[in-house]
Amino acid sequence: MKLLEITNLKKNYGDLRVLSDISLSVEEGQVVAIIGPSGSGKSTLLRCATLLEDMDGGTLKYNGEPVCEDKDGRAVYVSKQKIREIKNIFGLVFQNFNLFPHYTVLKNVMDAPVSVQKRSKEEVREEALKLLDMVGLSGKEDSYPCQLSGGQQQRVAIARALAMNPKILFFDEPTSALDPEITAGILKILRDLAEKKMTMVVVTHEIDFAKKVADRIIFMDGGYIVEEGSPEEVIDNPKNERTKAFLQKLEK
Ligand SMILES: Nc1ncnc2c1ncn2[C@@H]1O[C@H](COP(=O)(O)OP(=O)(O)O)[C@@H](O)[C@H]1O
Ligand SMILES: [Mg+2]
Repeated sequence: MKLLEITNLKKNYGDLRVLSDISLSVEEGQVVAIIGPSGSGKSTLLRCATLLEDMDGGTLKYNGEPVCEDKDGRAVYVSKQKIREIKNIFGLVFQNFNLFPHYTVLKNVMDAPVSVQKRSKEEVREEALKLLDMVGLSGKEDSYPCQLSGGQQQRVAIARALAMNPKILFFDEPTSALDPEITAGILKILRDLAEKKMTMVVVTHEIDFAKKVADRIIFMDGGYIVEEGSPEEVIDNPKNERTKAFLQKLEK
């Protein structure tokens, strides 16, 4: 089943065309890694997919349900009510963690399920404690983000995203603000999630991780998907010169 389907996505910032004609679909249980140079439009793609930015053209569907449709070359969104429902399907983890600084760890994780999803506090609390344990943060429930290391903050952000019970999780360079030793721990959490068949779209520069964990790799450059396929195809045997050049630069 196609959980996410994007066709012919176009996005401009003023006169600048940032995404040109992006089509991409993600099946349930799949892990898709997006790689590509800085400025190629990876974050903008995730921001459009997670409704933080409006697209200028193309279509977006979750679970086969239209969220944005193309009407005469314009992108038209479904009702606000529908958008609120759709937002329960996905979660997003940012590069810079984006925790609420004035909330404790536990409140960061509990906040959206309680205030947005209107679930019972007791139930959410129990689940939040389990999630914090899963990401290795038992005992940190009452700490504030500023009292945690970057890696710990990212663990909270992952627990917070999981607390919404999303069907698909997006990660935007989840480890690029972290030291290499810390990165390994975060990637381990993602690997465990992949083993549990969590559907994920991960923007990353961690090529070894992408190769091991992703079912499909997408290489973006200049607002286009230049090449996509299995890790063997895109990483081990890239066909496009731009993909080759990008991968060579990463090795150095
Ligand atoms: N809010 C914005 N306003 C104007 N330009 C933006 C904005 N966000 C991103 N851009 C531009 O869009 C392009 C793609 O950016 P981005 O999606 O962040 O790329 P990536 O994540 O691959 O580094 C860049 O040229 C960037 O400068
Ligand atoms: Mg980015």
